[in-house]
Amino acid sequence: GTITFVSYDGESTEAEIVEGSSLMQLATSNGVAGIDGDCGGECACGTCHVILEADWYGKTGEHNAEELQMLDLTPEREPTSRLACQIAVTEAMDGMTVKLPEFQM
Ligand code: FES
Repeated sequence: GTITFVSYDGESTEAEIVEGSSLMQLATSNGVAGIDGDCGGECACGTCHVILEADWYGKTGEHNAEELQMLDLTPEREPTSRLACQIAVTEAMDGMTVKLPEFQM
């Protein structure tokens, strides 16, 4: 299956799902511009911010306290914002589209 990343200016990148990897790792290994993952997935940098579609939001697992704290520090956060490093990808996410925020261009 695949997950599609769409940058703020509309460029899309399809990534093959790798079970056991995080959505952030999937983005960086596919060269998605706008996802840096500077902290390596520790919930500490906020450079893996993604905006999910409402339908998918409930299917990507729970936020932990660190993720919520980091999102709270992000003024541009959307109701369906998440940190991609905290989402474990599974084949169940086949067809999911993820948007990147303007502040991460
Ligand atoms: Fe740093 Fe997700 S990679 S917060």
